[in-house]
Amino acid sequence: MNVLALNSSPRGDEESYTAIMLGCLVDGMREAGGNVEVVNLREKKIRNCIGCFTCWTKTPGQCVHKDDMTYELFPKWKASDLVVYASPLYYHTINAAMSAFRERTLPAILPFFEPDAVGKTIHPIRDKIPASVFLSVCGFPEDSEFNPMRKFFARAHMGVEEAGIICRAGASLLSSPFLQEKANDVLDATRQAGRELIEDMEIAPETMDRITQPLGDAESFGKMGNMYWKTCIAEGVNPKEFSERKMVPRPDTLEDFMFVLPYGLDISATGDERKALQFHFSGDVEDSCYFMIEDGKVNPARGIGETPDLTIRTPFGLWVDIMTGKTDGAQMFMEQKYQVEGDLDLMMRLFRR
Ligand SMILES: Cc1cc2nc3c(=O)[nH]c(=O)nc-3n(C[C@H](O)[C@H](O)[C@H](O)COP(=O)(O)O)c2cc1C
Repeated sequence: MNVLALNSSPRGDEESYTAIMLGCLVDGMREAGGNVEVVNLREKKIRNCIGCFTCWTKTPGQCVHKDDMTYELFPKWKASDLVVYASPLYYHTINAAMSAFRERTLPAILPFFEPDAVGKTIHPIRDKIPASVFLSVCGFPEDSEFNPMRKFFARAHMGVEEAGIICRAGASLLSSPFLQEKANDVLDATRQAGRELIEDMEIAPETMDRITQPLGDAESFGKMGNMYWKTCIAEGVNPKEFSERKMVPRPDTLEDFMFVLPYGLDISATGDERKALQFHFSGDVEDSCYFMIEDGKVNPARGIGETPDLTIRTPFGLWVDIMTGKTDGAQMFMEQKYQVEGDLDLMMRLFRR
């Protein structure tokens, strides 16, 4: 089966979640024997359709534009058995690059009006339109974010076979180091979907459920997301620079600190033992909080907890600098910029990430 996989993300493969998902789908398709060509639309010149209808009248089936779409992509598209339209979700629909591509497939249909099977008026197809798969990723965590796009896809190609719609909400969570297991399952399921499409021209409901599985709750997603964007703004970096510099979201309140610290602790360090970790902050935040570590979980609370195994007294800003890699924790300890009481070895093991 000849497959044309179109990726309309303007972002490079190293930072695009559309590219990550599409890469897995394509791997699965190739494993099942599909002959797949991937085209990044950002590398192609595709002019906008100008609505002249010359392709319906003076030069039937032939567009007036002379660009990569006319000479390369439209012929490839027509010759494919299956086309994957992979687009990031922009304002609840496909992005401009994918829209430009799709508009330019107008020469493949005829101008006439006909009723379809349910009496709805459609344009007939000139010769052939390849079957389609849609793939999209988005920023918000809820799968319902794709509802308008799913409706749009259902009508997208005038009765032509639609083999699947793959949507992954909260796509940035796919690269979260704290959700690796679930993220790997999503990516494995996307590979599986690729195999199924080549073998059966459809995606099994179980595979789709794995692809769309929730990766976290919306509240935590929002908290972490807000911390992330605040850090980008404060440090004057964009998302690409943030990941290139291996930065981490920076808490600026006690609540945010209590939320984010557990993600950075290596709790395997405590084994089966229950451990209590106490912080007393000075400086920007003059407050205390503690963390109970037990049964593989970290429970944060404000104030002073039961007899701690480890107590850290530190300026809040300094500890956040250490957490986010701006300052060397060992060096600051030697310079007595913060104090530790209790199990020092536990501290080394808990914070080794
Ligand atoms: C112009 C623009 C519009 C967007 N609109 C939405 C949207 O409606 N819903 C949403 O959840 N995410 C939206 N996003 C976020 C993208 O879907 C998200 O960043 C996605 O990961 C981009 O795909 P990429 O990583 O392949 O580039 C938008 C992003 C941009 C730049």
